[in-house]
Amino acid sequence: MEKDGNDMTRSDLTVSAEEMERQKEFTAEIRQMPGRPESFYVVTYGCQMNAHDSEKLSGMLQEMGMTEAEDREQADFVIFNTCCVRENAERRALGNVTWLKEIRKRNPGLVIAVCGCMIQEPGMAEKMLKQYKFINLAFGTSNLWKFPELLYRTLNTDRNTVVVENEDVIPEGLPISRARKEAAYITVMYGCNNYCSYCIVPYVRGRERSREPASILREAEELLRSDVQEIMLLGQNVNSYGKDLGGGMSFAGLLRELDAMGIPRIRFMTSHPKDLSDKLIETMGSCGHILPQFHLPVQSGSDRMLKEMNRHYTRSQYLDRVRKLRAAVPGIGLSTDIIVGFPGETEADFADTMALVEEVRYDSAFTFIYSPRVGTRAAEMDGQIDPEVSKERIQKLIALQEGLQQETMARFVGMEEEALIEGFSRRSTLEVSGKGRHGISITLRGGAEDIGRIVRCRITGLKNNTLTAERI
Ligand code: SAH
Ligand code: SF4
Ligand code: F3S
Repeated sequence: MEKDGNDMTRSDLTVSAEEMERQKEFTAEIRQMPGRPESFYVVTYGCQMNAHDSEKLSGMLQEMGMTEAEDREQADFVIFNTCCVRENAERRALGNVTWLKEIRKRNPGLVIAVCGCMIQEPGMAEKMLKQYKFINLAFGTSNLWKFPELLYRTLNTDRNTVVVENEDVIPEGLPISRARKEAAYITVMYGCNNYCSYCIVPYVRGRERSREPASILREAEELLRSDVQEIMLLGQNVNSYGKDLGGGMSFAGLLRELDAMGIPRIRFMTSHPKDLSDKLIETMGSCGHILPQFHLPVQSGSDRMLKEMNRHYTRSQYLDRVRKLRAAVPGIGLSTDIIVGFPGETEADFADTMALVEEVRYDSAFTFIYSPRVGTRAAEMDGQIDPEVSKERIQKLIALQEGLQQETMARFVGMEEEALIEGFSRRSTLEVSGKGRHGISITLRGGAEDIGRIVRCRITGLKNNTLTAERI
């Protein structure tokens, strides 16, 4: 079958109602199965996409009649939702899976599954099951919606089950057990078409495909009715939302509709600078419910590196986007992702990145040492950088960013803010913490009654990377 999502009609992409119904039947079968696992635990690695997929797994498991265990040592069923974006993400997942082997010895009935991006890598699932025979089930990201059927098969056989199909579909109507009631994820699009030369995500998450606006709006309405305070729209490149729909709906258009619904806070991630339109910037400035924050990964400050990375923008185009965002939304909170040690990166290229960071003054930056991923173009490139050199560079970059961050964060002191409280602060049970409208953590005096609520406050100071505040 042709695998280009753009060539398909939407009904080809959406999993049929009959198929989804079949999954419900497997769910009911498992519910009634004697001796099936009673409790589950989901271990999640990776980004928000994976966190949200785990909420769907939990939702499906609850419908099977299982309850969430306090910790993984007490569960009858443990599932690892893996990430493979960098090598250490993969190593962490594998390390923990082998640790489960010990627990299995104590609890022979324990059922172990692995899923997620790492399993979607070509040949990985088979390799894992050969090496780790105690794993019962492995399936990739594209088979998530079939989880009830796959688990049913696993529970009915002595052999382990591997399913990794490459199908770029859109499943609608999966049950979701949300980790937080007040702040919810909504997927707006799946997959990525960008093929940044270092990145494995397009290979493990499939082609870009947008959900129908009506489905997204319906989900948002339900959340609004259940008193949600904040939604986070998810996609690998939300700025290209709608390009495959053919109906003229853009990401900016979608945001406007969501804004009009009256959801208190709207955030989204991630944006690709090449697709960040003037219309979106304008929308950011004119819609009151869209939070004044933006995550805009730059990856490098060197034009030469950006080209090698296949990013499709130059340093000056990027800086132009930043200027426009700041003009439209004064004081906007800006964050970014940066890779150091990309193949061929010279001291001069790295100096360009340092200079860009100094010029932009981000509120936060996620910095990564380049990690070669099998199957990506960059892994085959000449000029792979000595890890010691990369380490030195990243330390310099982190030191620079930390210094600048203290200065940029100081602009909030004295300002009024609103924090959506997530829980007690790590330091004290007399303090709660949450995220401000600009995306920065805020800590203030408070108690359990504040959790899940938006609290108005005045920023009084900064401590490490968080702001301290007093309630108004
Ligand atoms: N779609 C998002 C997120 C991708 S993964 C985006 O485009 O921004 C998150 C970050 O991981 C990327 O922004 C990049 O900085 C980093 N990353 C991805 N692949 C990497 C690799 N092979 N080595 C090091 N960092 C990588
Ligand atoms: Fe990876 Fe680039 Fe796609 Fe982001 S936009 S997921 S970095 S290929
Ligand atoms: Fe990792 Fe997959 Fe996200 S590789 S970063 S969990 S899309």
